[in-house]
Order: sequence, then C-alpha cells, then structure tokens
Amino acid sequence: MRVAVIGTGYVGLVTGVVLADMGNDVICVDNDPSKVEKLRNGISPIYEPGIEEMIRRNLNDQSIRFEASIADATQASEIVFIAVGTPPGEDGTPDLTAVRAVAREIGKAIDKYTVVVNKSTVPVGSGDLVENIIAEQGVSKELFDVVSNPEFLREGSAIHDTLEPDRIVIGAKKREAANKLVELYAPLEKPMYITDLNSAELIKYASNSFLAMKISFINAISRLCEACGANVSDVAKGMGADKRIGPLFLQAGLGWGGSCFPKDVEGLIKVAEGLGYDFELLKATQEINTTQTLHFLGRVEKRLGGLQGKKIGMLGLAFKPNTDDIRDAKSLVLIEEILNKGGSVHAYDPVAQENVEKVYPQIQYADHVFDVAEGADAIILVTEWNEFKQLDLEKLGSKMKNRILFDGRRVYSRASMEKAGFEYYTIGQAQ
Ligand code: UGA
Repeated sequence: MRVAVIGTGYVGLVTGVVLADMGNDVICVDNDPSKVEKLRNGISPIYEPGIEEMIRRNLNDQSIRFEASIADATQASEIVFIAVGTPPGEDGTPDLTAVRAVAREIGKAIDKYTVVVNKSTVPVGSGDLVENIIAEQGVSKELFDVVSNPEFLREGSAIHDTLEPDRIVIGAKKREAANKLVELYAPLEKPMYITDLNSAELIKYASNSFLAMKISFINAISRLCEACGANVSDVAKGMGADKRIGPLFLQAGLGWGGSCFPKDVEGLIKVAEGLGYDFELLKATQEINTTQTLHFLGRVEKRLGGLQGKKIGMLGLAFKPNTDDIRDAKSLVLIEEILNKGGSVHAYDPVAQENVEKVYPQIQYADHVFDVAEGADAIILVTEWNEFKQLDLEKLGSKMKNRILFDGRRVYSRASMEKAGFEYYTIGQAQ
C-alpha cells in the first residue's frame, strides 16, 4: 500500500521504516530539512537499536523516501499517518499545535479518497478535531476518513514492539476506514481491536497511566519493605505470579520517566478534569513517583552525613537503558538536588552523556565507566544498562574513597557487593 508518515520522531520513523520493511511504499515527511537530509543518507536522528540498518536497507530497496512536503506525500498515498509531537502545554494539557498544522496541510492537499490516521497520543476528541480541520479546507466528507491508531512501542525496543505488538487498536467511525488499516497490518498476524474514535484514544492514555500506576504501586510497597525488612523483589514475584496481576512493570526503582508516562498521566488527569472527574488515583501515582527519587536521595544523604562537599559517582543518565533519551530522567532530579546541596557529580552513560551535558555543563563526565569511582564518596546506579551488570567490582571499589553503592534499579546482589567489600543500599530492602 502507499503510505505517508508525517513526523520522523520515535513513533513516526519506526512506523514508517517497519511499514516499508513489510513491503509498503512509504514516504516519511519532516519539516526539519537537516533531519530529512540525514535520513536520506541513512543516518537516524534518534538512537534506537537496529533502526539505521533498517533505514539503509529500505532506502536501497527504494521502499522508503524522506521528503519535506506534506502535500506531495499526501497526494502520493492512500493512508496518511500523523505522528508529530504532542508535548504537554503549560497547564499539562497536550499541545496540539503540530497536529492541527499537519491536518490543515493534509486537508489542503487531499485530491482523492484518503484515510488520515492519528498515531500521535492525543486527547479524547482529537479525531473529531482533525476531521473538522480537514473539512474546513473544503474537502468533502466522502473524500476522507479519520482513524485513531495509537502506538504502544517502547523506546529501546521500538522495532520489536512494532513488529510484535500485543494488540493493534483501530478507532474509526466507519468500518470501511478501519478495514484499510486492518489490511495494512494483516501481515503482522496480531489481534486487532476495532473501536470508535474516542475509545481508541482513551485506550492509549489508560494503558500508559495504568502501567505508571503499577510502577508507583510497587515503589510504594518498596518503601514499606525498607521499613519492615521485607524484600520488594520477592514481594513483586509473589504478586506477579497471580495471572490477574502479571509480573511485568513491577520492577521497583527510582521511578518512571521518559517522554510518555509523565506526559500521558498528566494528560489523562487533564482530560478527566475537562470531563468533570477528579482523577485522584493518578495524582497519587505522580506524587509517589516524585517522592520515590527524593526518598532514595535522602538515604544517600543520611549515610554520608549530608551532601556538602561530597563526590557522587553516577552510573547511567538515560531515563532507561538502550536509549539516549533524558526527558524526565531521574538522573536530572538527582543531579539538581546533589548540586543544590553542595555535592559534586561525576557521571557516565554509554550514550546519553552528550544530552545531559547540554543541561548540566558544570558536572564532570567520564570517558570510561570506572572513572566515576575516582575519589567518590558513594556511587549511585541510576540506569540499568547491561554493561553495568557485570562490572569488575574490585576495580570499581579500589578507586573510591568509600566503597558505598546505592542501587537505584536493584541490579546487583547484596552477596556479590558485600563480597567486594561494598556497603550496599538498594531500593525496597532495609540495609
Ligand atoms: C511507554 C510504554 O511502555 C509504551 O507502551 C508506549 O508506547 C510508550 O510509553 C509511548 O507512549 O510512546 P517508554 O516510555 O519507551 O514506553 O518506556 P518504558 O519501557 O515503558 O519505561 C517507562 C519508565 O518506567 C522508565 O523510566 C522505566 O525505567 C520505568 N519502569 C518500567 C520501572 O521503573 N519499572 C518497571 O517495572 C518498568
């Protein structure tokens, strides 16, 4: 099928490349000429394992093109995906400026029947908004349909998640429009759920908010574990064995970050507010997430007798492994607090260092993981990169002022840490 994808962020680029790989004829559009140029040369503007190989393969096969014109791409395609950013506005409500602008451009260009698909995470009612904007450009309602097809991919495993989704959600007013997407996704052989527009839009917000709530729940339990001498991993395993609960997203840690959970939890609170409902459960979910990080740093502070003049080694900066994304990363909260309290930070991350350096040029960055240990009063593990899991603990400890490690993601075993002479503190377990 002939497909256009507007926006080459995580969602747009991965969707476009995977659809091209499935044998479709894809045009990816971005209004940033430098991005388009890079992509034409097979260079990805985002860090995502496997994406560049896939871009180059499809460029070679001529199944993907990168362009700047929404009009040309719309006229060349039967299905047009809108996959532009919807960042939180000042009051937390998703900012739909980019979606509106793209819808206008698409509307101006439509010259034959086109299915316009909202893939960006948008508040309930946005399908109607896009439909109205396109109609306002003088397009007759017989010439287009708007479909909501929310994306559930995770950064770091985006290609796998797009090829192997648990489900595909398609929201539409007319069955014929939904069927266009059923046909497009048929080769994936995955369950498809066809709903009305509003339900599809709500499924996305409800899913992300539920997952964030699940993490906040186990993080709240982790505090009880610390207080009563229980072990949060054992509690999570015991809970997760119940099929009604499930084992995933019960990993206690410093809290959730990234470009999606914070924005979507806040977004759903606002959507609910607009509909006259005070979503207190989600407000508590946010509150637990904020205090979890500060509570953890409080333990560091207590052990070190304050942070004034203390040198903290930091392992990991990205909001999670396998990405260079630092949006709402817990590392940023920790750096800010440590600096405010008179401490210094020496940090290492395999790919996210450059991004943090733009925000915090005043901290030290390591060329190698072991450098963070140099003269450190303590080390905090913030992101569970694989390369941190089998570290030579003896080598790490030998460079430190004190062998003290605070594990924000429960990566290490207490036994191996203590064997290497470390004082070991982790989330969800008393010292
Ligand atoms: C999330 C959802 O998982 C995707 O389904 C969704 O498509 C995406 O948002 C989106 O809306 O675009 P992502 O933000 O890439 O994906 O990352 P996750 O792997 O879900 O992790 C989110 C945060 O939760 C990270 O900070 C991670 O460290 C934290 N987390 C995750 C935990 O603290 N514990 C867990 O058990 C799982």
